[in-house]
Amino acid sequence: MLGIIELGIQYRLWRSQASKGKKSPRSGPATPLAKMASKLNEESISLESVMAEFKLSNTTLRRMMSHMSDNMDRGLESGLERSTIAMLPSFVPELPNGKERGKFVAMDLGGTNLRVMLMELEPGEPMRTKQFNTRMPNAAMHGTGEKLFDYIAKALCDFLIERELADECLPVGFTFSYPCDQTGLRSATLLRWTKGVTATGCVGEDVVQLLEDAIKRDGRVKVNIVALINDTVGTMVAAAYEAGGHCDIGVIIGKSFLLHENIKLQFSGTGTNASYMESSKKIVHGLANATEDYNHKSMIIDTEWGGFGDNGEADYIFTRYDKIVDSKSDHPGVNSLDKLIAGMCMGELVRLVLERLCENKVLFNGQGSKMLRTRNTFPTKYISEILHDDCGVYSNTRQIMDELGIEGATFSDMLLLREVCVVVSRRSANLAAAAIACVLNRVRRPNMLVAIDGSTYKYHPFFNHWVCEKIRELLDPGLDFKIVQTGDGSGRGAALIAAIVSRVKREEEKRLKDLEIQRQKAAEAEERRLLEIEKEKEEAEERARKISEMMRYQIERGAEESYQRHE
Ligand code: BGC
Repeated sequence: MLGIIELGIQYRLWRSQASKGKKSPRSGPATPLAKMASKLNEESISLESVMAEFKLSNTTLRRMMSHMSDNMDRGLESGLERSTIAMLPSFVPELPNGKERGKFVAMDLGGTNLRVMLMELEPGEPMRTKQFNTRMPNAAMHGTGEKLFDYIAKALCDFLIERELADECLPVGFTFSYPCDQTGLRSATLLRWTKGVTATGCVGEDVVQLLEDAIKRDGRVKVNIVALINDTVGTMVAAAYEAGGHCDIGVIIGKSFLLHENIKLQFSGTGTNASYMESSKKIVHGLANATEDYNHKSMIIDTEWGGFGDNGEADYIFTRYDKIVDSKSDHPGVNSLDKLIAGMCMGELVRLVLERLCENKVLFNGQGSKMLRTRNTFPTKYISEILHDDCGVYSNTRQIMDELGIEGATFSDMLLLREVCVVVSRRSANLAAAAIACVLNRVRRPNMLVAIDGSTYKYHPFFNHWVCEKIRELLDPGLDFKIVQTGDGSGRGAALIAAIVSRVKREEEKRLKDLEIQRQKAAEAEERRLLEIEKEKEEAEERARKISEMMRYQIERGAEESYQRHE
């Protein structure tokens, strides 16, 4: 506690010194002379003025929520033609109900990692899983699509062969965390790469086909790809399995945060996205091109909210630093919200701010280091590490400054560095909260369950607290929610979806079999009824014949008697 007070006093002291004589460019010069001075001094900035750019009021966040919700409606109606939020159909009709059973394989590709997983399910028993994780080599992510899918197929084949499952033709769920236009559970065209992947020859292609071709080229195993899903759909399904069949929204905030990367290779905490259950009636665009009949009442929708802002509709949120990060990214102008929220760009944003503060002598006495001025040298993990330092103890911060080659940093420098990390990452948490609150305000069910996965959310010490706090402020009155953090949701979810598909198929087969038995029983009963009618008819005819015979006999007898009388 003392640490916090001491820190607060020192920080206020430092701030009053740092901003002495400097006016925030945002307050605007009053006189022509001041205007000229301001022009000359254009680059003269304070920590406050820079940080103000990252602070978003609830009014701004509500404005963003309303724009997002409009885009979601338009996405459901017309897809990407009229919206930046695609609202893609998943063709997953329901959540797990605990009756799933069998052996299933999951593959999970997203960001920088590939995971292959085997899952065994038996109702009432804990699920058994075995898994293998590997980092995708740069050559696979940035070479040809064939190379990328060969790499994935090889990992799958090696995994199954090692477990002697090569010929079992197991059902596979494939989590593919990139925007896909899905026309069936196992057919999906890649719309675009995100998260810096650039493998050629994949955009516009059917991803399941690409994978099946690669498995065929490898030729060592037999499998049955039953579903392709997004990681948020997997997260929602995995959380529902644990919560007894209920989950309202699955969220990813920054996937694949690699904590121990060599900073030169660093590429961390990639996209953000959410899924929720939508009524099939509203999924106009998504179901228009479906290649299979869809007769279920609802379907999980993969919102692809990461695209929000791609038409400039979120420009009021973008700072000059965001614009630099975007323009230098692999996909400029694409998946804008990913870049504002997920960890992928957070480190670089902090670095750009530090560089500017340093240039303006607000920080490090204007010295800094060559490394601080070099792009992508401040990985997002630094933010978590700096914020993990206890108050007044700066061991992580000092080590990071050493790694960046910064010498002679003062106590004030360290406080300032921490403040930049807080403000930049808190903005990301606030934006994530606004996006989640936007979906919850649409879902509007009692006691909603939000499942969140992703490294930005997991590894940042305050992110979960900030997200929860802000959702509360932005949620419509009367609504309530609970957050659960799911681990490996996207992988387990893929296997669970393969299991749901098998269960639904089994139930459908059983339903059809029961129907057939009922139909047969009804046909037999009808046959019996007809036979009975026939029998009754025959009996009636027989009776009529006998009666008519008897009558004829009596008439004949009567005639005979009368003849004899006349004789
Ligand atoms: C992708 C989404 C994915 C999200 C989280 C985004 O870049 O477009 O499909 O769900 O990242 O991994």
